Amino acid sequence: MHDTPDRPTTSGTPAAPPVIVPDTMRAVVARRYGTSEVAMIEEIPVPTPAKDQVLVRVRASSMNALDWHFVTGTPYLVRLVNGLRRPKRIIPGADVAGVVVAIGAEVTDHQVGDSVFGECFGGGCALYLAVRGEYVVALPEGVSFEAAGATPVAGLTAVQGLRTHADVQPGEHVLINGAAGGVGTFAVQIAKAMGAEVTAVCSTRNVEMVRSLGADTVVDYTTTDIVAGGPRFDVMLDNVGNRTPAECRSMLLAGARYVAVSGPKDKNWLGPIPHLFRTWFALRRSGASFHQFTTSLDTEDLTYLAEFLASDAIVPAIDRVIGLDGVADALTELGTGHARSKIVVVPDSPTQER
Ligand SMILES: NC(=O)c1ccc[n+]([C@@H]2O[C@H](COP(=O)([O-])OP(=O)(O)OC[C@H]3O[C@@H](n4cnc5c(N)ncnc54)[C@H](OP(=O)(O)O)[C@@H]3O)[C@@H](O)[C@H]2O)c1
Repeated sequence: MHDTPDRPTTSGTPAAPPVIVPDTMRAVVARRYGTSEVAMIEEIPVPTPAKDQVLVRVRASSMNALDWHFVTGTPYLVRLVNGLRRPKRIIPGADVAGVVVAIGAEVTDHQVGDSVFGECFGGGCALYLAVRGEYVVALPEGVSFEAAGATPVAGLTAVQGLRTHADVQPGEHVLINGAAGGVGTFAVQIAKAMGAEVTAVCSTRNVEMVRSLGADTVVDYTTTDIVAGGPRFDVMLDNVGNRTPAECRSMLLAGARYVAVSGPKDKNWLGPIPHLFRTWFALRRSGASFHQFTTSLDTEDLTYLAEFLASDAIVPAIDRVIGLDGVADALTELGTGHARSKIVVVPDSPTQER
C-alpha cells in the first residue's frame, strides 16, 4: 500500500488527508482479441498517475458498443490503432465516475476527494483508473455515480451528433434511428430538451421504454416501415446504418442534415466505411447534408451534459447494474446489436440475479 501525495491546493486551503491506495486491484482484462471469453477478472497493479493524470477510485463505469469493437478487434481497422496482433487497450470501460484519490504533479483543477466523471480510453472496468485530469469534470451535486458512469460516451455522442453536427433548432423534426441503445436513449432526451419534435425507431420490446423518455412518436421497425411517408425530417441521427442511401434521402427534407453515428457491423477491414461513402455520395445532390464524426472528449460538452443531469432534464436510462463478473456477458449482449439502454458497471459489487 502507498499514501497518495499530500500537498497544498492552489487555493491555499489545506489538502485533503492522504488516502491509502492498495498496490493491486481487481480488473476485467482482455489480453487477446476474441469474443467475450477473453475478458477475465485479474488482480493487477493499481496504476500510478502520470503528472497530468488523476487516480480515480472507480464507483461506476458502463459498457459501450466500442468495448465490443476493442475486445474483438473488429472491424479489423480497429487493430491499426489498438495493436495488430494483441490489444494495447486491455481493460474495457470508456466511461468513469468516481472519487479522485491521487493527483499528478501538473494537475491543478482537481483535488483528492473530488467526485468526478468523464471519458477514458478504456480502464473503467477496474477498481482504480489513471486518467488525464482534463478528461474528467466535477460530478454535479445530487447526481449518482451510476447515472454519471452511464453518461460520457453515449451522452457525448448524442450531444455532438445533435448539437455540433445537426445544429438542431426548436420545432425541427428529428428522426432517431436506433433509439433504444445507449446513444439513442440519450439522443431522444437531448433532442427533446433542445425543443425538437422527435420520432424514434426501435423494436417492439423497447417501444414503451423509448416513449417514456419523451419521444413524440415511436415507430416499431418490426411492424412499421419508417421510410414510407416521404420527406418529413429535418435531421436524421442514424445509430444503426441499416437503411440504403436512397431510403435515407427519401425521408429527408431539403436542407436536412443526415448524421451518421454508425454503419453496418460487417466484420471486415473497413467496417462501415463503404456504407458511409455510398450515403455521402447519394446525399451530395439531394439538398441534404451528410455528417459523420467520431465522438471527441470535449469538456464543454461534458459540462453541458452535467447541467442536464443536475437539472433532471436528462435521466440516463439504465437497463441494469452489473459487477465486474457481469462484464463478459454484457460484451456478448453488445455484440448482438440489441443491447437495451445502458448497462452500468459497479466494480465493488457482484452482479445481481435478474
Ligand atoms: N461515431 C462514434 O464516435 C460513435 C460513438 C458511439 C457509438 N457509436 C456507434 O453507434 C452505434 C450505437 O451505439 P450504442 O451505444 O447506442 O449501441 P447499443 O447500445 O449497442 O444499441 C444499439 C441499438 O440499436 C438498435 N437497433 C438494432 N437494429 C435496429 C434496427 N434495425 N432499427 C432500429 N434500431 C435498431 C437496438 O435496439 P432494438 O433492440 O430495439 O433493435 C439497440 O438498442 C454503435 O454501432 C456504436 O458502435 C459510434
